[in-house]
Amino acid sequence: MTCRSVILATGSYLPEKILTNKDIEKLVDTTDDWIVQRTGIRERHIAAPGQATSDMAIQAARRALEASGLTPNDIDGVIVATTTPDRSFPSVAVCVQAALGLRAGPAFDVQAVCSGFVYALSVADSFLRTGVMKRVLVIGAEKMSSLLNWEDRTTCVLFGDGAGAVILEAQTESDSGILSTHLYADGKFRDLLYTDGGTSTTGTSGHIIMHGKEVFKNAVTLMSEIVQEVLDKNTITSDQIDWLVPHQANLRIIAGTAEKLNMSMEKVVVTVDKHGNTSAASIPLALDTAVRDGRIQRGQTLLLEALGGGLTWAAALIKY
Ligand code: UT7
Repeated sequence: MTCRSVILATGSYLPEKILTNKDIEKLVDTTDDWIVQRTGIRERHIAAPGQATSDMAIQAARRALEASGLTPNDIDGVIVATTTPDRSFPSVAVCVQAALGLRAGPAFDVQAVCSGFVYALSVADSFLRTGVMKRVLVIGAEKMSSLLNWEDRTTCVLFGDGAGAVILEAQTESDSGILSTHLYADGKFRDLLYTDGGTSTTGTSGHIIMHGKEVFKNAVTLMSEIVQEVLDKNTITSDQIDWLVPHQANLRIIAGTAEKLNMSMEKVVVTVDKHGNTSAASIPLALDTAVRDGRIQRGQTLLLEALGGGLTWAAALIKY
């Protein structure tokens, strides 16, 4: 029988502090109206100064582990998608491994910015289907606030912090699981969205610089193309998708993808209004939100899609 990577449980964490658009009006020349109209964002969570990405990842992982009913000893490995690690090294994944008391096994970070969680899912899926691991913890965790220039209104209004996690298990007797993953990057677009610093250049992490309009145009086109590829590869039609769980960067991009799929917004999980863009954390945060509030049910088909700096873009079709 085919071996599939099944989502056993989800978990997520958002920092306590909420920064509203009104709060940001006091920092830069912007308005609540502009932010809502252009992005759909109303508020975002911001990590406390001493709170690192691993602290959020650990909380999300604990909640996923609790929901799964498993013990730390049942988990074989940890993959964390992040662009904002605590330190250049070691990885956030080893911090999670130590905090949860997991036994020795593979633990590493994946960096594909906003597409990172789907990339990490795909890597985990390969490990599970080839028998390298039986159960793996996959996390998306970001402290994007640490990459923001709080004087740049074109970026500081967009991002937030948080973490989401899933536990995947290799199963041969289930028709649920990851049905396909689709990963892309095109480095010729690397200067559309980047940080103006880094370990081997400035020795600092730098701040986010984004050519928003160009990223927006590419996002609309590339998301339309990749969702079509997912449908074709799986020989399904969009009416067979129960939930679109997109990367949460901009409500207009999300609505454009839903329109391309002929899907009503009622079948789209939207968290961008409350979370802002949390990069690699946005999809697992959205997934956990909709699982816990009962919208996403076992047996339903989920389409995940994301685009981020690189440019990278990715999608996954999952039977939950
Ligand atoms: O997660 C990774 C992927 N990222 C994305 O997918 C983001 C993609 N891009 C976007 O979401 C949008 O391009 C933005 C939300 C970033 C910007 O929206 P836009 O409709 O593309 O606006 P714009 O950049 O063309 O700016 C329009 C105007 C400009 O003024 P002028 O030149 O027309 O006078 C900006 O200076 O809005 C101005 N502006 C602002 N005004 C008030 C830019 N930022 C702000 C702001 N508040 N925060």
